[in-house]
Amino acid sequence: MSNDSKTDYAIETTNITKIYGSDNTEVVAMRDACMQVKKGEVVALLGPSGSGKSTFLTAVGLINPPTSGQVIIGGKLALDGPVAKTNLRSFRRKHIGFVFQKSNLIPFLSAVENIQVAMELSGESSREARRRSLELMDYLGVADRADNLPMALSGGQQQRIAVARALANHPSVILADEPTAALDGVSGRQVMELFSKVAHEQDAGVIVVTHDHRALDVFDTIYEMEDGLMHRKSDHELSTN
Ligand SMILES: Nc1ncnc2c1ncn2[C@@H]1O[C@H](COP(=O)(O)OP(=O)(O)O)[C@@H](O)[C@H]1O
Ligand SMILES: [Mg+2]
Repeated sequence: MSNDSKTDYAIETTNITKIYGSDNTEVVAMRDACMQVKKGEVVALLGPSGSGKSTFLTAVGLINPPTSGQVIIGGKLALDGPVAKTNLRSFRRKHIGFVFQKSNLIPFLSAVENIQVAMELSGESSREARRRSLELMDYLGVADRADNLPMALSGGQQQRIAVARALANHPSVILADEPTAALDGVSGRQVMELFSKVAHEQDAGVIVVTHDHRALDVFDTIYEMEDGLMHRKSDHELSTN
């Protein structure tokens, strides 16, 4: 019974709506989106281009507040409509890790330094940051690439480094927006498996926006957006697709 208590959710959104522009230029990009993600659950968010997926993800990520509705992270109300209920900057750094389509690694820092710098920004000593960065690289299967510059890495390896960087501060939430869009099928699948591993082993709530239907079996739950409306897909819908 108490298994479903509020704090078992890493992420909860309640009726979040986003309207861009005003009056005759109004675009309702997302309407009443509700999602609940448990700790240790990995969710895929599907939907055509323009359906509102990035709008949803940036609202959950506390980057682009909704016009109305609530965003609750780790049981704590973070946004009530556009109103911040916490210091968003520090809350975000502490609780949320992001991965984007492009890895956005700093080109003149080595792979390990790219992760290390994220830890140092949060006040970790260089020595400890380096130790933990190497440990994370090992965990994500790219330890042998520590001293390479990003340009010497494959797309899949770069995304693994980006996942390591997202994990730098032990976030309870990981948000990824089309992280495999630039990868071939095999490395795309490996990166998706990594998100699943991270959710299950680190007890994080993970949402991955994706167009890629080939790796959907790694996800616990599938949601879909269409014209700004979100719904959870049932097993039946999935098996008939
Ligand atoms: N900053 C913005 N200003 C106005 N309209 C926007 C803005 N960002 C997104 N939109 C519109 O909101 C809708 C949803 O966009 P988006 O969330 O980026 O969709 P997706 O990520 O699914 O492709 C689209 O119609 C898009 O044109
Ligand atoms: Mg998008």
